[in-house]
Formats: sequence, structure tokens, C-alpha cells
Amino acid sequence: MATDNGTDSPVPRERVRAVHEMTLDAPGQEPPFLDLALLEARARDSLPRAVFDYYAGGSETETTMREAPDSWRSWRLRPRVLRGVTAPRLGTELLGSAVGTPIGVAPWAYQGMAHPDGELATARAAVATGALMTASTSATHTLEEIVAETGDSPAWFQLYRLHSTAHTEDLARRAGDAGYRALVMTVDVPLLGRRHRDLTNAFALPEGLRMANHPAAGDERPDLRDLATATWTFDDIARFGEVSGLPVVVKGVLRGDDAVRCVQAGASAVWVSTHGGRQADPAIASAHALPEIVDAVGDDAEVYADGGIRTGSDVLTALALGARAVFLGRPTAWGLADGGADGVARVLAGLTEELAHMMVLCGLEDVRSVPRDSVRAAR
Ligand SMILES: Cc1cc2nc3c(=O)[nH]c(=O)nc-3n(C[C@H](O)[C@H](O)[C@H](O)COP(=O)(O)O)c2cc1C
Repeated sequence: MATDNGTDSPVPRERVRAVHEMTLDAPGQEPPFLDLALLEARARDSLPRAVFDYYAGGSETETTMREAPDSWRSWRLRPRVLRGVTAPRLGTELLGSAVGTPIGVAPWAYQGMAHPDGELATARAAVATGALMTASTSATHTLEEIVAETGDSPAWFQLYRLHSTAHTEDLARRAGDAGYRALVMTVDVPLLGRRHRDLTNAFALPEGLRMANHPAAGDERPDLRDLATATWTFDDIARFGEVSGLPVVVKGVLRGDDAVRCVQAGASAVWVSTHGGRQADPAIASAHALPEIVDAVGDDAEVYADGGIRTGSDVLTALALGARAVFLGRPTAWGLADGGADGVARVLAGLTEELAHMMVLCGLEDVRSVPRDSVRAAR
């Protein structure tokens, strides 16, 4: 949810808050639909302020983050009628791996702050719902521990370029050895966006948690500068594909010309993303960049999108605009804080259910072939 009251619905803020407070006061009364605003409100209630702000916040003016959900709704569905669709097909293939839903888990850092099982719980939820799990470089469990939870189900590993080339290469190699199916190179963090909430809170990982993929303090104290993010180059795409032995997904692309260069440099897929509005701001929304990138890349690579996806119709819009899959960040954080693996599974299954429902309403039978003319600009 992008807004400060935890909702993007047109219902007046005071009324939304009143409803949430009623529900918060009456635990056990679950709403009969996936209520992400309620989950966010509960997370705001239960998590330490600095942790909630780290998850919820964006960079600079937070414009990119705030606008993201609405940008999907700047498109309108054009339902088809009389098509006899009752049970749409939800499964698809991502880089050759079968998944049960086109809704995956985006890599997000420090999941141990939301729940003690952290990334392990999220991975279990992904497996239970047929969703793809993406593990972050900045996880609070090791990449080997996380992939062990996914068994035969596919998982991807997200890699930052770190100042230490040796450590970055080591992570890529470990991801390949551990059984991940793709390497997601996040390219929108040459340095960290200015996140005012985190700066105000002097955010730091709470006592007892650590970036588990990095060398442990104590063994040989890591030099923090070595672990800061740095800039990838186009040449790194082929090189890190080779080091890891995995197909490369480039995450954080917002321009058609960049997408083409990534594919020419060896990327198998391009992931359209503003990093949840945590980096460049105000940046073009994924929902507006996606068509240009799909058109530029054509059939040469798969294209995915994330940022502000909160409803089944948001997912359907992204599929119509040419995304093969979408990914969720914050909604899975609120689910994890609310109920561990079960909480994340409720979010993933709930959104997949909403997608299926909306596909029936729109006469669409297969997530793999949602035509572009299923949507048009609202204005
Ligand atoms: C708390 C948080 C931490 C994140 N950490 C990472 C990360 O470690 N690596 C990465 O590639 N993206 C990271 N992201 C970006 C997500 O992968 C994703 O692009 C974004 O959350 C999608 O937007 P949404 O939160 O509106 O769904 C993070 C996002 C959030 C909210």
C-alpha cells in the first residue's frame, strides 16, 4: 500500500481507519476477502516503528511509491462476454520452470524483522501456493537455507553488485551451486535511494539479525564498505551468467532502450521495477514503462513487472500489457508479519484467487495469452 493511511481505495480515509480500528479491536474477525490494507494496519500496529517504516517507506518525496497502485488503475479492463470461461488457466512457465501462478515473491531484504522464520517462511508459502520465490542478497537466512525450503519448486536468487568483486562473484557461484534457477541482477541500486524515514529513524538491523549471506562479523570482520552496493555494467550480464551458470534476469529496468541493451548483452529476461519507489523518485511507474519495454524486447526475452500490484485486476492489467509474471513486495511483508508462512500464503493465494475471478469476469481463459486489447488507457 502506498498511502500513509494504508489504503488506496476511494473510500474516505477516516472511514477506512475506523473500519480498520474496529477490526483491529476484534481479533479473530477476519474479513471475507483479502484485505491488504488491514494487514498493513496490523503490521503498523505490531512492528517497531523503525521496522515498519523501513518496509513501508520509499525514497525522497515517495511520489513513485504513492502513485504505483493507481498507475495500474490508470488502465481499464475491456471485458469479453459470452466466452464461456469458468476455470481460467493460472499456471505458466518462467524461464522454463513451471509455476502455478503468475504472481511471484519479489526479493525483499531483512525478512527476519517481520517474523523469526523470515525468508524460510516466505519460501514455504511460495511452495504451498505454487508461486516463484526470489531470495534477496540481503536476506537474514543464507541463500542455501532458503533454497532448501523450496525443494523441487523453482526459486531465483537476487544479486546486488557489491564493492567487493570477489564477494559478488562468490554469491553468484553459490546461487548456481545451491540450485537456484536464475540470477536476478538488481541494477537500480548503484547507491541507496535517500529514504527519509530510515534516515530519521537511524534505521539499522535489530540486534541478533544479520545479513546472513555476507561473511560473519566475528570470523573476520567484514569491511562494510566492501558490502555496499555498486554499479553493474552491461558486460557483467554475460560474465555473471557464466560465473553462476544461470540465466540472468535484469531487475530495475524502466526504459525500452535499456531493455534492448540488456537482452543484447545476454539477459534472458527483464524485470520492470522502480524498486517499490525506493530508488529514483519521482520515476515513471512500472505500469507506464511496461508497454514500451514489451514492445522493444519483443519475443527476445521474458518481461516481468512489480510495484504497487495490490489486486487481481492489477495483475491482469500487467499481463495484458505484456508481463509474463508480476511480483509482490510489501503485501508479502504484511502477510509475513501477520502470520508467518500462513500469512504470506494467504496473500499469494488470495491475490491469485482474485486474478482468476477477474479473468472469468473478463472472459479470459489463460494467463499466458492475455491480449493487449484487454485493457485501454482510462483517459
Ligand atoms: C522492504 C523492502 C526491501 C527490499 N529489498 C530488496 C532487495 O533486497 N533486493 C531487490 O532487488 N529489491 C528489493 N526491494 C524491491 C522489491 O523487490 C520490489 O521491487 C518492490 O517491493 C515491489 O513493489 P511493492 O512493494 O509495491 O510490491 C525491496 C522492497 C521493499 C519494500
